[in-house]
Amino acid sequence: MRRGKWLGFMLFLLFACNGCAGEPERETDTIAYTQDQTEIDEGLTVVGVSQIGAESDWRIAHTESIRSALVPENGFYLLFDDAQQKQENQIKAVRDFILQDVDYIVLAPIVETGWDAVLQEAKEADIPVILVDRMAEVSEDLYTCWLGADFEAEGKNAGKWLEEYLAQAGRAQEEIHIVTLQGTLGASAQIGRTEGFASVMKEHANWNMLEMQDAEYTQAKGREVMEDLLDKYADIDVVICENDNMAFGAVDAIKAAGRTCGPEGDITILSFDAVRAAFDAMLAGDINAAFECNPLHGPRLVQIIKELEAGRPVDKIQYMEEAYFDTDMDLESIRETRAY
Ligand code: AHR
Repeated sequence: MRRGKWLGFMLFLLFACNGCAGEPERETDTIAYTQDQTEIDEGLTVVGVSQIGAESDWRIAHTESIRSALVPENGFYLLFDDAQQKQENQIKAVRDFILQDVDYIVLAPIVETGWDAVLQEAKEADIPVILVDRMAEVSEDLYTCWLGADFEAEGKNAGKWLEEYLAQAGRAQEEIHIVTLQGTLGASAQIGRTEGFASVMKEHANWNMLEMQDAEYTQAKGREVMEDLLDKYADIDVVICENDNMAFGAVDAIKAAGRTCGPEGDITILSFDAVRAAFDAMLAGDINAAFECNPLHGPRLVQIIKELEAGRPVDKIQYMEEAYFDTDMDLESIRETRAY
């Protein structure tokens, strides 16, 4: 550890300042570890992780993967900050990590824009920044590498799946009415999935996107937005949900409205993430297909940091492997093998 000797002292200062300012305290390890400064092991690599929040099953699995990988047994001391879906909290967390002089900063940026200043500060402090999950729209010299999903490919795969599904159902030429529950606007996952699906839509003049609305990646907002869309449109054929939790909310709204969905229902539901609960929803006949977004970044982060510590270069852009699942597959068996 290059900087660890200062960490306990800085943590103490941060803790003191937090109290003085009278700000509501967020859940962070920064604060938690002030209770036990003597436990910081000089041999560990200190990593500050700024997580977006806990808005979805995917996000919880992502956090768990990182938390269980960046552990002392693997040579790491983790400082974790949950930004509660607020970019300003993430910027503050990154600044705190810089003050603490951590060895690495891992940032999952809530949206793509607005990071130039704080990442420039990290660069000036000579702290490597690893972006995970979503991308930041900044100059390439402000981050060491990015690890995440090919969101545009996920969106395209969903479009291609729908194309084939409609063809098999003899509906290739029918007017198809689609609505989209989008994720947080400006997030890479939202931008990529929306653009990927739109690229397939362009090939189908009979696909009509009635409306796209931001449902913030949460189940509650998914339900609320779907209720609104069902009120507005009587003829929805397909709902694209840019994550599983919004799909669960949409299914709730559809059922509450006395409508049906899934392979045997009136409304086709496509979703992204493919968390275990999405398998349950497919098995229950509520969702037609789920396009995987792999949240298991922890082990890859360990590899990346170990390479960097050994002075070896790493690939700038690193994609996770992903698949898709639908109700024609043996979902019971696949579900057994799922880690999230
Ligand atoms: O950025 C990945 C997306 O963020 C996941 O699809 C979603 O569930 C999460 O909140």
